[in-house]
Amino acid sequence: MGPDGWERVRAIRLRALREDPDAFGTTLAQDAVRPPEVWRERLAGGATATFLVRSAGADVGLAVGSPFRGREGAAGLFAMWVAPEARGKGVGDRLVEAVVLWARSIGYERVLLEVADENAAAIKLYERHGFAPTGRTGTLPAPRTHVREHERCLEL
Ligand SMILES: CC(C)(COP(=O)(O)OP(=O)(O)OC[C@H]1O[C@@H](n2cnc3c(N)ncnc32)[C@H](O)[C@@H]1OP(=O)(O)O)[C@@H](O)C(=O)NCCC(=O)NCCS
Repeated sequence: MGPDGWERVRAIRLRALREDPDAFGTTLAQDAVRPPEVWRERLAGGATATFLVRSAGADVGLAVGSPFRGREGAAGLFAMWVAPEARGKGVGDRLVEAVVLWARSIGYERVLLEVADENAAAIKLYERHGFAPTGRTGTLPAPRTHVREHERCLEL
């Protein structure tokens, strides 16, 4: 997606944060107040790549590839979300593939992500694509520190 698609990206991102808040570190309150310039800037072709899946005229999937802060040579897979009405049909597979291809094309050495320990559907998806646990653990930011996460890595 490029800058002109910012309203579509914002709409699906806010829906994701509203419907599955514990899957993400960012909150709905944080993203809902970001001005249009911030959304456009993120889509302007810098270090971040944003992918949408559209099906039957509706946006049903979102994923973002971006540098993984503080980790040399690593891209991050972020914001992965598939609308409930489109789950279990391989949309998640297409999104993972898109971010991995993007990371390879830039020359990253690995892709990292963080997934909540309770999120069986996402863990299964990432395992299928070869993402293995690194042993690093963490939690979502306060007040959601009860949501524990494991980091996973795909070496490219
Ligand atoms: C995790 C998620 C992205 C998977 O998307 P998806 O397109 O359904 O992915 P897949 O089609 O590969 O299905 C993944 C698994 O979901 C489960 N699943 C199957 N049908 C499903 C349905 N109708 N509804 C929910 N889950 C279903 C299955 O375990 C499936 O694996 P399997 O088909 O190999 O048995 C999606 O469930 C989602 O957006 N969840 C909420 C947000 C989230 O957790 N994001 C990840 C943050 S790290």
